[in-house]
Amino acid sequence: MIAGKSILLVVTGGIAAYKSLELIRRLRDSGASVRAILTKSGAEFVTPLSVSALTGEKTFVELFSLTDETEIGHIQLSRQSDLIVVVPASADFMAKMAHGRADDLASTVMLATDKDVLLAPAMNVRMWDHPATQENLATLAQRGVRIIGPNEGSMACGEFGMGRMAEPNEILSAIKNYFTPTEAPLAGLKALITAGPTHEALDPVRYIANHSSGKQGYAIANAMKSLGADVTLVSGPTQLSTPSGVNLVPVTSARDMLAACQKALPADIAICAAAVADWRIAEQSNQKIKKTSGNEAPTLSFVQNPDILATLSKQGPKRPGLVIGFAAETENVENNAKSKLERKGCDWILANDVSPTTGTFGGDNNTLLLIDETGIDHWAKMTKDAAAEKLSRRIADKLKLNT
Ligand code: C5P
Repeated sequence: MIAGKSILLVVTGGIAAYKSLELIRRLRDSGASVRAILTKSGAEFVTPLSVSALTGEKTFVELFSLTDETEIGHIQLSRQSDLIVVVPASADFMAKMAHGRADDLASTVMLATDKDVLLAPAMNVRMWDHPATQENLATLAQRGVRIIGPNEGSMACGEFGMGRMAEPNEILSAIKNYFTPTEAPLAGLKALITAGPTHEALDPVRYIANHSSGKQGYAIANAMKSLGADVTLVSGPTQLSTPSGVNLVPVTSARDMLAACQKALPADIAICAAAVADWRIAEQSNQKIKKTSGNEAPTLSFVQNPDILATLSKQGPKRPGLVIGFAAETENVENNAKSKLERKGCDWILANDVSPTTGTFGGDNNTLLLIDETGIDHWAKMTKDAAAEKLSRRIADKLKLNT
């Protein structure tokens, strides 16, 4: 319920600022009250007058206005709100927030507030993709700032890609979800998720690994948890922090991962997102392999690793009710995924193109197609978090149908 809640809306500079007006209207229609702060560049796109006309309140622009500070100081602005929503959040404003700068009213409020913050980023695709923005985004997300969007689409600058602000109705739903904790359709169900790479040792100091960051698997663990599932995340080595409330089982090799998965059974749902090494060294050396005097390179022989997804899919009575695999392909994505689904014996498969040009490995976005019992569903490029949420909702819908 958002009726009776106070939203402090921060409008920063960007063409998407006009959508903030529509959001204010919808928030008011839902019974929320809205106070707005415009940054200097936000005020280039929408006027304080039009914002005030819709909020029915004074709109704040300056960092220091004697009258404003007497009537309602910047600390009060934050204190009197239940949630701060930044629509649109420009690259510059995200950078200021990430670095704790406070040189105008809006950024000062962000630094002074102890309220939760929801950002709706909007910017040119190259600005969004820039490592500086992505690092700022990661910093803010780590601090608990909530993010909605951006979406993929055409932009005012004529380009196409990620950076288009979420629509007012999506932002409104995110605000409603914030105040009404999401229902828990997966409550009482146990989910087992694998993520990250595996490390296969050659000797005590060397190993063979791959480029998997674990981001997609961790995002799924987080999304499944937020829908109420009891989540065990069996993860190879990654740099990621454990999503809150998720039971992490850290492992190193494929064989460790399989053992940890079997220990976690029974489970209702298994999602294998790990990039498991197909091979390991046949005979791991107990001592560091030395260079020979003739500088001859050692010859390594490999043996096949257990296939965790295939093993879980054929686990007999302990088989999870829904087993989902991933197919990371660099060509013929759809056909390879279909044959993988059959070969592994899983129920659903999510396939993605991981050719180096896609930036999927290690990146924050994914373009997936889902093959399930109903056919093939192509998902447009979206963040790994959004893909995780979409998958989790799909699982919840499927399990609801089965009950
Ligand atoms: O055969 P491939 O590695 O392409 O299959 C990918 C799918 O199988 C992913 O879901 C991955 O987590 C899973 N897998 C596994 N154990 C392996 C190899 C792959 O669980 N040894």
